[in-house]
Amino acid sequence: MSESKQTEGKPGISRRRFLTYTIASTAGFLGSTMLYPMVRFAIDPILQKGTDTEFVDVGSVDEFTERPKSVQFRIKRKDGWYEPEEGESATAWVSKKGDAILALSPICKHLGCTVTWEGGGHLKQYYCPCHGGLYEEDGTNVPGTPPTGPLDQYAYRVEGGRLLLGPTQQGGGA
Ligand code: FES
Repeated sequence: MSESKQTEGKPGISRRRFLTYTIASTAGFLGSTMLYPMVRFAIDPILQKGTDTEFVDVGSVDEFTERPKSVQFRIKRKDGWYEPEEGESATAWVSKKGDAILALSPICKHLGCTVTWEGGGHLKQYYCPCHGGLYEEDGTNVPGTPPTGPLDQYAYRVEGGRLLLGPTQQGGGA
């Protein structure tokens, strides 16, 4: 019996077309289920950025005050497949209010320049010289300036009176 006779007068799609769609969608499904683990395995280190960052001693907690102080240190971090033996250099702006420590990344959230405390004559603010970005003392970006998000913050621990900084995490704010 020919296909045209079978489908003659019946609404819907032909048997051939139905089989084509079924085979194509089954092949697509099987292909994607096989590809997904391979792709995931290949890009997983990128997705895990900074998760195995070690905490680094950056000084005595007593050194820090309400006025942000810049500290330089080397941090061991696996970034994708890249893990420099000697660690990578990092900077944080650290301030302390009571027992609360705030350690901000100096990397501007606009295009990645380096911010400075009270730079460009901006009192009590972080200033990015590249495009005039401003952040409040707590790292919140000032609306109307180029950065669209707050400065990242370092995770921290205090152990035996020493301040240890770890991976950065997204700050909250405007
Ligand atoms: S990179 Fe900081 S304002 Fe543009």
